[in-house]
Amino acid sequence: MNIIDKIKKLKQEKNAVILVHNYQLPEIQDIADFVGDSLGLSIEAARTDAAIIVFCGVHFMAETAKILSPQKIVLLPDKDAGCPMADMIDAERLKSLQEKHPNAVTVCYVNSSAAVKALCDYCCTSANAVKMAQHILPNNKEIIFVPDQYLAQNVAAQVKHDFIIWEGYCPIHAEISPENILQAKKRHPEAKVLAHPECKPTVTALADVVTSTEGMSKYIKKAPEKEFIIATEIGIIHRMKKENPEKIFYPAKEAAICSDMKRINLEKVLWSLENLSYEITVPPDIMEKARLCIERMLEIV
Ligand code: 13P
Ligand code: SF4
Repeated sequence: MNIIDKIKKLKQEKNAVILVHNYQLPEIQDIADFVGDSLGLSIEAARTDAAIIVFCGVHFMAETAKILSPQKIVLLPDKDAGCPMADMIDAERLKSLQEKHPNAVTVCYVNSSAAVKALCDYCCTSANAVKMAQHILPNNKEIIFVPDQYLAQNVAAQVKHDFIIWEGYCPIHAEISPENILQAKKRHPEAKVLAHPECKPTVTALADVVTSTEGMSKYIKKAPEKEFIIATEIGIIHRMKKENPEKIFYPAKEAAICSDMKRINLEKVLWSLENLSYEITVPPDIMEKARLCIERMLEIV
């Protein structure tokens, strides 16, 4: 039996579901029950009836799944698959910032630890950050937004309101430069430019569409255009090609690869199912508090 058949058999025997982020390796996307962005994966984690969730993504995503489905076993096939941006803030440093702004509402990007989420009023993803800001702003003018400074700046520009910003960033998206976009546009003048809001505002300013990975996929399916320049982690291009075989995709930067996302492979998924490893746990007090800010987001979007 080959490895894919072994994974499928074990998945059925153990009543497991495989949730996969858009940046995962092609072979992992191909064995998924659901491939999506951070928001779609959170929603799927909350509604699945499976007993086990094998989360092929990074740690904060698996943690979010566990918070939303505490009675389920949530597995991350590589225990070291983290997110450098999420690691740029911790609960202690967030607390000190909040002490300086006692009346501020705190919004955290889903790319943050459960301990950070537990201190926040609202969570958001790249798919709903603008909507969340629009929901919060009428009653709260002082908003702390952590940890992604570029997402915060991109949202601030759209809602025309400044936030108290944390200076975190995604090292992969921050490396995509305006030069990369201008060169790609020169080579492919007919192509539409799609950029992720984790890119710097100097990059998103050059894009036709600024949206989450799921937003990009939806846009491409409906778009009459045939060519697209993709300014995000290049793993999503596998899904784009699969869903739109007649369309052409050019990465804005070939080297935009998240090594954390690529840590998971088929062997690790099989190992994970065989050994129920690595099980994600969250201390109960943090879990309860962190769930509130995620649920508040899910009620709004
Ligand atoms: P989305 O898939 O939510 O757009 O997020 C991108 C990302 O960097 C996740 O780590
Ligand atoms: Fe974190 Fe960036 Fe990798 Fe996403 S792509 S997991 S934000 S480092």
